[in-house]
Amino acid sequence: MLDLKALLDQNHCPSLALTEKHINPAMAKVLRIIGYDIRFVRGQGPYLYDDKGTQYLDCLGGYAVFNLGRNHPVVRDALKQAMDLDLPNLIKMGTPTLSGVLARELIAIAPSPTLDTVFFTNSGAEGIETAIKYARAATGRTRILHAKKSFHGLTCGALAINGNDEFKEGFGPMLGDCDAVPYGDVAALERELAKKDVAAFIVEPIQGKGVNIPPEDYLPSVARLCKQLGSLYVADEVQTGFGRTGKMWACQNWVSPADDPDILVCAKALSGGYVPVGAVLSKRWVHDKVFSSLDRCVVHSTTFGQNELAMAAGLATLHVLREERIVERAASMGRLLVEKLSQMVGKYELVKEVRGKGLMVAVEFHEPRGLMLKTQWKIIHKLDPSLFPQAILMPLLTDHHILAQTAGHHLDVIKLIPPLVLSEADVDHIADAFDKVVASCSRVSGPMWEVGKRLGGQALKRQFATAEQT
Ligand SMILES: Cc1ncc(COP(=O)(O)O)c(C=O)c1O
Repeated sequence: MLDLKALLDQNHCPSLALTEKHINPAMAKVLRIIGYDIRFVRGQGPYLYDDKGTQYLDCLGGYAVFNLGRNHPVVRDALKQAMDLDLPNLIKMGTPTLSGVLARELIAIAPSPTLDTVFFTNSGAEGIETAIKYARAATGRTRILHAKKSFHGLTCGALAINGNDEFKEGFGPMLGDCDAVPYGDVAALERELAKKDVAAFIVEPIQGKGVNIPPEDYLPSVARLCKQLGSLYVADEVQTGFGRTGKMWACQNWVSPADDPDILVCAKALSGGYVPVGAVLSKRWVHDKVFSSLDRCVVHSTTFGQNELAMAAGLATLHVLREERIVERAASMGRLLVEKLSQMVGKYELVKEVRGKGLMVAVEFHEPRGLMLKTQWKIIHKLDPSLFPQAILMPLLTDHHILAQTAGHHLDVIKLIPPLVLSEADVDHIADAFDKVVASCSRVSGPMWEVGKRLGGQALKRQFATAEQT
């Protein structure tokens, strides 16, 4: 038998060195410099525990994977059952039962009953690749539109519709015939769609980079225009799906079932964080155009698609979302969190805005008015335009044991996407910690100054770009 516990115990100490040596040296270095080189040994619900037993509140949520929290007992139990059943897994020339049931359940919770076919993937980016292929096959057009500042993953097709050029550097040329329009701008979208060469407009209902929330009429207009002008409306719910924004799907914050997307892509939270899995829900006519004849029945497929551990985890996740009323909880805890964090606006000149839907929340900072603080702000931004959030994130972690992230390159925005199972006490802890950290950052020679001194070196600039992930 492989003694996994012994293996872990023997290797916790050199884990950073192993990452540095074999996986991602730049990332290991960045983690060490910003004090994020903590040896986490256990996760439970919204908490992580280090090797000394210290508890941390995880507001990063594995990049929005852990909507149920880590190691949910129901999902774990379903996986154990699946293993004990010695399932026939991955027959490929067969019709597995669990994937059929999960597909039926996903369709039942889809924003519209018209989304009634499912393709299972292993990741969000693979779902986006699927959507690009489906849209081209269904419409006979090639052009793909996306929004500026969008993020849809980092595989070649998804990268071509990434609205942040930093991710594209060094990987060109990109997949052709992809263009960006400003997010939230209906007129700009209409101008492009009117050319009638657009296969699909692929859009996040709320943008992950920056946590950008669209104007009220945006998504209904997207749905209407795409329908009118013969393009597919693809909702990328990879990050926002499964209750994150206080609705099962973020698009439901604005659209009625009549304004349904033609394709909905989801992933991340579907398997409770245990097994990589994603799903692409599409209208039947779209699906039929792709799998248009018997000899095209595997024209789009993936080896590990429909694997039974992923399917079991997916079914258990949907069960928990329902039974524990997780979506409703995200809505109420999210409202409370935004309300409490918003008390910083007006109290601290550094804080520009707090915004969010459900538990997808952003705290945005801006240049303060006071001369001394303004000077520090300018210096830190001159050193590196991505550096300021570290002045908040580092003390949040070291002094208050809260793990969070910056919302993207060159943004003074901190993003919170915690597990949706937060308690009111957790919300109080986050709000209180932010208040204390921002208060201390608002002092001349506080953390802003310290971080500028500590991290401002040229050598670090490139490494920060690596650390800013989804
Ligand atoms: C909106 C969105 N789409 C797609 C992706 C890509 O998902 P994955 O990392 O699973 O490939 C992400 C990842 O963060 C995302 O946030």
